[in-house]
Amino acid sequence: MRASISTRLAVMFAVASLGVFSLVGFALWHVLQRELCRHQLSEVNTRLDYAGMMTGRNDNAEKWKMLRTKLDVLTPLDRRVRFWVVGPDPRFEYGDASPVLRERLSTHAEGPLDFELEGRSWRASVRSIAANGERPAVQLVTAVDSASFRETLNVFAGALVVLCLAGGALVGLLGHRIARVGLAPLSSLSREAQALSPRDLSQRLRLSPLPRELADLVSSFNGALERVERAYAQLEGFNADVAHELRTPLTNIIGQTQVALAKERTAPHLEEVLQSNLEELERLRGIVNDMLFLARADQGEEALDRVHTSAAEEVSKTVEFLDVLLEEAGVSVRVEGDARTSFERSLFRRAASNLLLNAIEHSERGAEIVVDIAQRKSEVRIAVTNPGIPIPEQHLERLFDRFYRVDGARRNSRDNHGLGLSIVKAVAKMHGGTVFAASTEGHNTVGFTLSAASQV
Ligand SMILES: Nc1ncnc2c1ncn2[C@@H]1O[C@H](COP(=O)(O)OP(=O)(O)O)[C@@H](O)[C@H]1O
Ligand SMILES: [Mg+2]
Repeated sequence: MRASISTRLAVMFAVASLGVFSLVGFALWHVLQRELCRHQLSEVNTRLDYAGMMTGRNDNAEKWKMLRTKLDVLTPLDRRVRFWVVGPDPRFEYGDASPVLRERLSTHAEGPLDFELEGRSWRASVRSIAANGERPAVQLVTAVDSASFRETLNVFAGALVVLCLAGGALVGLLGHRIARVGLAPLSSLSREAQALSPRDLSQRLRLSPLPRELADLVSSFNGALERVERAYAQLEGFNADVAHELRTPLTNIIGQTQVALAKERTAPHLEEVLQSNLEELERLRGIVNDMLFLARADQGEEALDRVHTSAAEEVSKTVEFLDVLLEEAGVSVRVEGDARTSFERSLFRRAASNLLLNAIEHSERGAEIVVDIAQRKSEVRIAVTNPGIPIPEQHLERLFDRFYRVDGARRNSRDNHGLGLSIVKAVAKMHGGTVFAASTEGHNTVGFTLSAASQV
């Protein structure tokens, strides 16, 4: 199992504070050690001054005995402080210096000296005393046992280690508590998120009591929920629309066939029924093909088989195909402007003819449809404008939705099943472009763009 945020924070706090405590502890230990050392040396030097003065005055063997007594008196019973006098004449010596000490002294005439002797550690100071009378030059050593000093330092170090560890653990525990309290909104958020059910897609997470960091996360999450809800609603609506569109031709086919089978029919009558059924079947195939095309575009298929040519020329050719229809409707088409760009010919014609068919359908007799082609920066715009009843604002952005029709009454019109503009949108997308629609002063404009960047 992964460690929780509180645990991680607690461990981090503990480690960080342990580091800080150790540093401070080490510095304290160092200061204490230096101070203790200074203190000991000053203790040693006070005695050394006194003993040195007495030794310096001493100039014969007789007086030396008195000096020994005095040094004996100065040496405490526990022998924590010791004196040694070392010289070439054993009559003028004191304290029975061991060969080891003599060896050290032969290379160390003056100053502080640390050494081990008789199983103890000594902190000492050495002074050279000049010859006087009978007495040759000697070295005077005054030393204190540094065991108590060591002990103090060790106890202090031990206490520091225990305090550091305890402090670290305490900070860790406190950190854990604080982190738990600080992260409480996160736990309540996760409980809330768990309570979200797929049955009610309108549910959202509450934003109000959350800290700023989480509020951002929650609003993004709510945004995602909203998109899911919208996509789901669209999908549900789409299924209903598909079923509805397919039901009408199927009902027609079944009805006509049942009627035809009810009685004995002549061959010409049956032929007529079959002809009518064929039309309905073709309509079904049209819907299914359009849906398959849209599905391919949804899956990110792009226009690959492109040609680089004049858009106006291609529009004119499309208009030629619609000649008969135009004549029937009594409308004309004018193509304005031009731009050379690359596109897949069949897709381009499909989009253009869908736009033209809509324009023809929504134009009065005698009207003129204008196809305007223009290059704007990195895109080529193809806009089809026809005079007609204004399209209300709320419909404009939905025109390109599948099965969407402004005029619901047209739902059953034979050739239009509300996928025309969805296909225009899909074609635009396959060429890296978009779609647009506008309705101003009795003129409706619907069109698409092609990305000019995809020019070859
Ligand atoms: N030139 C236009 N003028 C007015 N309304 C239009 C025009 N073009 C499209 N529309 C509206 O947009 C709807 C969707 O168009 P489309 O996707 O081609 O579906 P269909 O033509 O099958 O109804 C149409 O039903 C119509 O209401
Ligand atoms: Mg149409």
